[in-house]
Amino acid sequence: MCGIVGYAGDRDCTEVLLDSLTKLEYRGYDSAGIAVFENGKITVEKSKGELKNLRKKIEENYKPEGHCGIGHTRWATHGEPSDINSHPHGSKRVSIVHNGIIENYKDIKKFLARKGYTFESETDTETVAKLLDYYYHGDPIDAIIKTLADVRGAYALGILFKDYPDCIFSVRKDSPLIIGVGENENFIASDVPAILQYTRKYYLLEENEIATIKADRVEFCDIHRQELIKEVQESNLDMDAAEKGGYEHFMLKEIHEQTNAVKTTIAPRIVNGMPDLSECGLSIEKLKKYRKLFIVACGTAMHAGMVGKYVIEKLARTEVTVDIASEFRYRDPIIEKEDLVIVISQSGETADTKAALHLAHDRGAKVLAVVNVKGSSIAREADMVLYTHAGPEISVASTKAFSVQMSVMYLLAFEMAYAKGHIDEAECKRLTAALTDIPEKIEQTMQCEKKCKYVASKLITATSLLYIGRGLDYALSMEGSLKLKEISYIHSESYAAGELKHGTISLVEDGMPVISVATQSDLMEKMVSNIVEVKSRGAFTITVCKEGTEFSDGIMDEIIEVPALEDVLMPMLTVIPLQLVAYYTTVLKGLNVDKPRNLAKSVTVE
Ligand code: M6R
Repeated sequence: MCGIVGYAGDRDCTEVLLDSLTKLEYRGYDSAGIAVFENGKITVEKSKGELKNLRKKIEENYKPEGHCGIGHTRWATHGEPSDINSHPHGSKRVSIVHNGIIENYKDIKKFLARKGYTFESETDTETVAKLLDYYYHGDPIDAIIKTLADVRGAYALGILFKDYPDCIFSVRKDSPLIIGVGENENFIASDVPAILQYTRKYYLLEENEIATIKADRVEFCDIHRQELIKEVQESNLDMDAAEKGGYEHFMLKEIHEQTNAVKTTIAPRIVNGMPDLSECGLSIEKLKKYRKLFIVACGTAMHAGMVGKYVIEKLARTEVTVDIASEFRYRDPIIEKEDLVIVISQSGETADTKAALHLAHDRGAKVLAVVNVKGSSIAREADMVLYTHAGPEISVASTKAFSVQMSVMYLLAFEMAYAKGHIDEAECKRLTAALTDIPEKIEQTMQCEKKCKYVASKLITATSLLYIGRGLDYALSMEGSLKLKEISYIHSESYAAGELKHGTISLVEDGMPVISVATQSDLMEKMVSNIVEVKSRGAFTITVCKEGTEFSDGIMDEIIEVPALEDVLMPMLTVIPLQLVAYYTTVLKGLNVDKPRNLAKSVTVE
């Protein structure tokens, strides 16, 4: 979603803003803009489309020369992507960039119109800029406090006031923002990668804290103007991790990083051969007592939650409900105090997942967050956090985050099963050892890459396809289908294989690709019957299965084999070919793999 940057220091501000915005491109955007102080005047440049359009416009027309300014990549919500709707927005005296959504912007707009204000854009952001202008009588903090009292919604704001030409003001609620701290230069940014080339030090801005940023100092106060003293954080993010490192795309690099990501996520949580999640306060005693688990997440993270459900219910005999966060928050779920709500999120900033966390807290339940980004909002607000150690995931299509999320689900299932007495220590150790071997098996699974590329070449002309599976394989078919459709733009649906006959099979016609995931021994016969059903209706059948699985002649058009593990662990391997098939289909179609249209990496609005 929208990316914010800001700079105050001696460097060429325009260059810093453009460079930093490049580092936020992964968030997804459809226009960009900057505002720079130049001889006491705010100069704004903006452009629809990719950042290179803005850069070109600046190079060809006019480059603002200054040392303090703000920049933005916009992911359209209110109003189409256009030059006019791009940020910054403002008046002669105020210029702002915004990430989030102002829910009551229509009321504010009406109010301001009555006061004589006019509006150029269709955005909610412009109303905030004009409201700041309305309240501004020489004191920026006063104007910000009065504006915050009127607006409802989510925001991270970078603000320039014309009378303060060396200063950026910032405030946030429900949208992320950090303040980068350099040597005689300071920054604002939506995310750490934007500032990493300049500094590793930063402040985390908390809800409704107001920051005043100058080259030589950063000051904080609350909405009652009380001064705040904050601690500087240090990022240990690997700079190279945010680069492609020789791979053609981030997605392919991240697929290959899964071996290490899983290793790094599970290794510190295994003590004497047993899973140990006590680092976050999840003791055996606590695990024993939970009556029911709710797993809440969005997209790929929700699919990891589905894997968690199957495994926890099977091994720990504890009821698990999995919910899409945007449904959970509005369905009035029955949560008791002795239930545990688990939220899973790579970014830790997903608006719906965050809202689910708030709902769980309102109902008195404790929340465990499984999060990849350190210090993210969800990590900070949850009662317990288990960090996944995937490193930065840049590609919009989530790959390595899924594997590490699943591996945490396995550790949880094993420890809970042991805590509740459903497996003994020996069995728990055996399962844990099998999980420890997974990184090596993932590496072996990568050998199917060539085959996946070949299979992808058969899919590029398809307009629609189906993914089917049963049990754990159904969860994986959902993930495979999401991966393919989000980047290749080929319509696909995932179906529980047994449900096909209840309607969807009527879609199957000559040549329609049907990808089945078939790794669960106890469901194999049924699964094969379902595959035969689609084959006999003309489907082009592709199956992901364990090495050595035998099928009768003529059922499968293409088989992608992965190393054989015990059934319960198979999702850790079957996901690899599903990711690779989606990747290569998209590459062969010549599409933008890492930044698919209309999508954002971190979905910070509802
Ligand atoms: O950051 P999160 O894990 O909370 O994000 C959740 C989804 O937005 C995300 O998994 C999305 O579905 C990906 N594009 C899938 O590849």
